[in-house]
Amino acid sequence: MVEGVLITSLDSFGRGVGHINNKVIFIKNALPSEIVDVKITQDKKSYSEGEVLKYQKISSKRIKSPCPYFSICGGCHLLFYNYSDTLDFKIQKVHDLFLKNKINNPPINLIPNLSNFYYRNKLSLKIINSQIGFYEEKTHSLVAIEECLIANKTINAVLKNYQLLNLENGNLTIRTNSNNEVLLIIETPESNYNIDLSKLKEKVKLVGIVYNNKTIYGQDFYYERLHNFLFKISYNSFFQVNNFITEELFKLIENHIEPNSQVLDLYSGVGTLSIVASLKAQMVYSVEIVQNAILNGIFNAKINKRNNIKFLLGDVSKIVSNLSFAFDTLILDPPRKGLDKNTINFIKNKLPTKIIYISCNLNTLIRDLKLLEEVYTLKEYKILDMFSYTYHLESFCVLNLN
Ligand SMILES: C[S@@+](CC[C@H](N)C(=O)[O-])C[C@H]1O[C@@H](n2cnc3c(N)ncnc32)[C@H](O)[C@@H]1O
Repeated sequence: MVEGVLITSLDSFGRGVGHINNKVIFIKNALPSEIVDVKITQDKKSYSEGEVLKYQKISSKRIKSPCPYFSICGGCHLLFYNYSDTLDFKIQKVHDLFLKNKINNPPINLIPNLSNFYYRNKLSLKIINSQIGFYEEKTHSLVAIEECLIANKTINAVLKNYQLLNLENGNLTIRTNSNNEVLLIIETPESNYNIDLSKLKEKVKLVGIVYNNKTIYGQDFYYERLHNFLFKISYNSFFQVNNFITEELFKLIENHIEPNSQVLDLYSGVGTLSIVASLKAQMVYSVEIVQNAILNGIFNAKINKRNNIKFLLGDVSKIVSNLSFAFDTLILDPPRKGLDKNTINFIKNKLPTKIIYISCNLNTLIRDLKLLEEVYTLKEYKILDMFSYTYHLESFCVLNLN
């Protein structure tokens, strides 16, 4: 044990940063200005990691976490703070990373999540030996939970009744919409199912169950209504997890598309941003790799009466080499790994006037901004608090051609 370590800041994962004999140590659940006694759990050449054994001095900003699983479940990293302090943390995190990477940035604005508890519309859980929960951080041991404070009430109703699924082991993904409807996706080594459907249907509005990729009840999709649009979403199509923030994202997209522009929307999912952009653009081209998502997109354009969108199925990295149409505005919303080399080269070759880059991974976003900085200037940057109480954040960037 090392006694009396002063915490000077938080790192980008929300861990307290201290020093022992001039070597940096990262300590979970330790806040700036706190003094803690520490057990070292990892000792590497240039840094250590540790756990708090005792708090000698407690920060005035620390709150009693409202979640009973906070210290063991790896999900919410910042539930030691009031909401407004979590937002300050996120602004500081972006500021520090921009500074470290010499990103020439405009002011960092933030759009808060007005419903910052019970906000997630999707949750993936583990079931092990008939218990349900999440893996403890960096382990395969289950933290069994009865409630999740960041999942919406419909998900929590499923959680409360998960025993009706009669599953011993597997993964359960619960997807829901604003109408409290539920789609369950189960992956399990168990080949026979014994779900108590009639009781489950009494507890929640079940629209479907997909069991090891087969629809065994209802349908394999659900609908969501947002921003006056209706979206069909298949069980394996992406949809943003936070409806309030997604509406804010839609408003930003609508405000930033110029009338009569030609838009290319890469990584387009079920066509959400394309459909919003199509309100002002002359033509929108959408590229997405998941077949169901493209089919959803085509359907969604039709039911929302948008007839100026063309959908292309395929891998962005490959498709971009064959795109022959002209476009002046590029929407990018890639998965966590960000853009690949081909796509960066494509952008540098086509040089659209405006790029709207939406990202859920600050590190790959910064990497890509650096690769584009000789030709593009970051004009606008916003944090969208899509993943409240976790260290994750969604970025909304507008880049203009130099
Ligand atoms: C962060 S989501 C964004 C989806 C959409 N823009 C939205 O807001 O709902 C990223 C999307 O990229 C798709 N994707 C991942 N890798 C891809 C690739 N190499 N080529 C095309 N699409 C890809 C995923 O299936 C997912 O739908």
